[in-house]
Amino acid sequence: MAENILTIEHLTKRFGDQTVLQDVSFTVQEGEVIVIVGPSGCGKSTLLRCINALEEIQGGEIRLRGELVRKDAKKLQEIRQRIGMVFQSYELFPHLTVLDNILLAPVRVQKRPKEEVREEALALLARVGLTEKADSFPRQLSGGQKQRVAIVRALCMHPEIMLFDEVTAALDPEMVREVLDVLLGLADQGKTMLIVTHEMQFARAVADRIIFLDDGGIKEEDPPEQFFEAPKTERAKEFLKSFTYTRKNKGRSPGGKNENIT
Ligand SMILES: Nc1ncnc2c1ncn2[C@@H]1O[C@H](COP(=O)(O)OP(=O)(O)OP(=O)(O)O)[C@@H](O)[C@H]1O
Ligand SMILES: [Mg+2]
Repeated sequence: MAENILTIEHLTKRFGDQTVLQDVSFTVQEGEVIVIVGPSGCGKSTLLRCINALEEIQGGEIRLRGELVRKDAKKLQEIRQRIGMVFQSYELFPHLTVLDNILLAPVRVQKRPKEEVREEALALLARVGLTEKADSFPRQLSGGQKQRVAIVRALCMHPEIMLFDEVTAALDPEMVREVLDVLLGLADQGKTMLIVTHEMQFARAVADRIIFLDDGGIKEEDPPEQFFEAPKTERAKEFLKSFTYTRKNKGRSPGGKNENIT
């Protein structure tokens, strides 16, 4: 059986008196790709931030290969390096080239030999189609290119699990695909990933499992086919319906028919 990389048990997260996550439990096995979906404000980003120990938690525990992940853990720096995270905004250093952005943490923090990391960085850049951008500055890149650099930068730290929080949300539609293709490539390679996204077709294509979060808890945890074709809960059905757009304004539609745009 595959090894559990991440174990979350009875996680509770509150901001003041607002409980955002209540008794959330799940595990992620080596090589698994889990996609977390749910309505805006249901706590998806907060969950990823807890996993990366960016937030204090009020109950339960999070373990990375058995080791406790806590904001006040003694070995927090070390544990954080084992968890890669990519956000909606790329947060590249504007004064550093693409390559230097990627090399910074592996060389300075992980103390790995620069030449070795450089070779790896160039190989990864090639894989995401950015070889010729290695010496460019972030301002010279498109949003999709910056996001691919941010992914390479996280990968170069050799994380055991990658967390992605709506990495395509700020991108123009044409650039969404190039970034999703990179994620799909990583999934095919066996990377362990936890992905938050609103791209439902992508979620279905990439996920081994879908977690539907709503109202502070996991409401469904299913293989993608099951979740998208036969969701068990009314809430999930409603949620999925919100991704189809139905025109109700009869007056402007020829013949008064509803047009479905999916
Ligand atoms: N630092 C904070 N302080 C107080 N409340 C917060 C903080 N961060 C998030 N929240 C609240 O926690 C809840 C969950 O927020 P979160 O950002 O995790 O939602 P989300 O599922 O990622 O939503 P979206 O799909 O819009 O990104 C929201 O009600 C939000 O207002
Ligand atoms: Mg969010």
